[in-house]
Amino acid sequence: MTTIAKPPATKSPAARASVISSLGSNPYGVFVCLMAALAGLLFGLDIGVISGALPFIAKQFMLNDHVQEWIVSSMMVGAAIGAIGAGWLAWHIGRRYALGLAAVLFVIGSLWSGFAGNPDHLIAARLVLGLAVGVASFTAPLYLSEVAPRQVRGAMISTYQLMITVGILAAFLSNIGLSYVADWRWMLGVIAIPAVLFLLGVIALPDSPRWLMARGRMPEAQAVLQRLYDDPADVEAEIREVTEQNAQPKQGWGLLRVNSNFRRSVALGAVLQIFQQLTGINVVMYYAPRIFGLAGFATHEQQLWATVVVGLVNVIATFGAIAFVDRWGRKPILYAGCAVMAAGMGVLGLLLHIGITSTAAQAVAVASLLLFIAGFAMSAGPLVWILCSEIQPQQGRDFGIAVSTFVNWAANMVVAATFLSLLSSLGESNTFLLYAILNIAFGVAVFLYVPETRGVSLERLGRNLLAGKRLRDLGKID
Ligand code: BGC
Repeated sequence: MTTIAKPPATKSPAARASVISSLGSNPYGVFVCLMAALAGLLFGLDIGVISGALPFIAKQFMLNDHVQEWIVSSMMVGAAIGAIGAGWLAWHIGRRYALGLAAVLFVIGSLWSGFAGNPDHLIAARLVLGLAVGVASFTAPLYLSEVAPRQVRGAMISTYQLMITVGILAAFLSNIGLSYVADWRWMLGVIAIPAVLFLLGVIALPDSPRWLMARGRMPEAQAVLQRLYDDPADVEAEIREVTEQNAQPKQGWGLLRVNSNFRRSVALGAVLQIFQQLTGINVVMYYAPRIFGLAGFATHEQQLWATVVVGLVNVIATFGAIAFVDRWGRKPILYAGCAVMAAGMGVLGLLLHIGITSTAAQAVAVASLLLFIAGFAMSAGPLVWILCSEIQPQQGRDFGIAVSTFVNWAANMVVAATFLSLLSSLGESNTFLLYAILNIAFGVAVFLYVPETRGVSLERLGRNLLAGKRLRDLGKID
């Protein structure tokens, strides 16, 4: 079962119209999907909020760089643990209760971080939020891929990705509003409100019909499907497909131990996620105001506004990926993205070397940062998640995706925990030049190892992998 299904294969106006009409035709289905996608919004809010709150926290508690890095990265430690535990949870207690648990942790973590009396409490509260994010980032796309009506499955999972970027933008905006009252406690605590809404939403969600069937609870599964699908023929088709899929034995560690081909796809998923994080995306997400400070924006207010523009570009460019991924293919988009990201980071690094003293240099610095964000949001952001779900064979898909999700958060943590130290050891300019080089290395890795999966069925990719084909050739037909 995929956690991130392929986006719809066709983008013709007729196909789009059918997606929209079938979405509109079942309000219950739309409600269910939107509620589950709210998890993405919370994920984004928690990523986005810390960049605005950190300067105030650092000032109040007089924190050094090291403690600040821990406040940022403790969330990723929790998320890595949460992602790896989520596979077990989502199977044993079910997707719905796993999402419910994530919602409760979101509420507790938000309130606790808002009321934290000292930096240690704040680190612990962000760890709890991380657990919530980790469980949600595995379970929500999985749940969506299982309940969304077949015709809109890809669109729904893209919506989840989009919600992450909307959450980040909303957090950047709320950072501005609350910075006028200079209150980091409100910035962090206010996220409890959408978290409570998410909790209420989850209570109203049905269990995933696929999970119910896998647990032998057929009548309940049927009842849910009847509410989600208007046409009884669709209900029958879904039951047939799921029964066939459930008949395939699922293996994780066992398959990994005996099958070297499966080890290759698991390794590729992990490598892709590491490169996604080494682009430096979250350096910008977490430390944007500070980077704008380096680029010559003197006041905190100016820095926060510039950060909002980053969030906006991130949302808009994600639409670009959704529109082009099935037309241009994965590899051309990734090559273009790596080149754009390397150029953005490289120019910023060079400018910091020369010194950003004029208004013109400041404008170029901002433009290169925005170029970097647009490059990421159009390519590495959504595409790495899509590829990670496509390259795993059916027998080991849950396991393979759990591993790559874990690696995403672990790598995220390493990048967040080392950025400020890199700045002081390598210097500002060299740090950004290093990210530029890593983006070029990402492009080379794409050339060497990434298969073109556009228009290729998941079954063929899995067959080619297990037959021992080279990773970059998995999408080839012969
Ligand atoms: C990445 C996150 C990142 C986000 C930014 C996601 O694809 O996995 O680490 O913060 O994109 O939009």
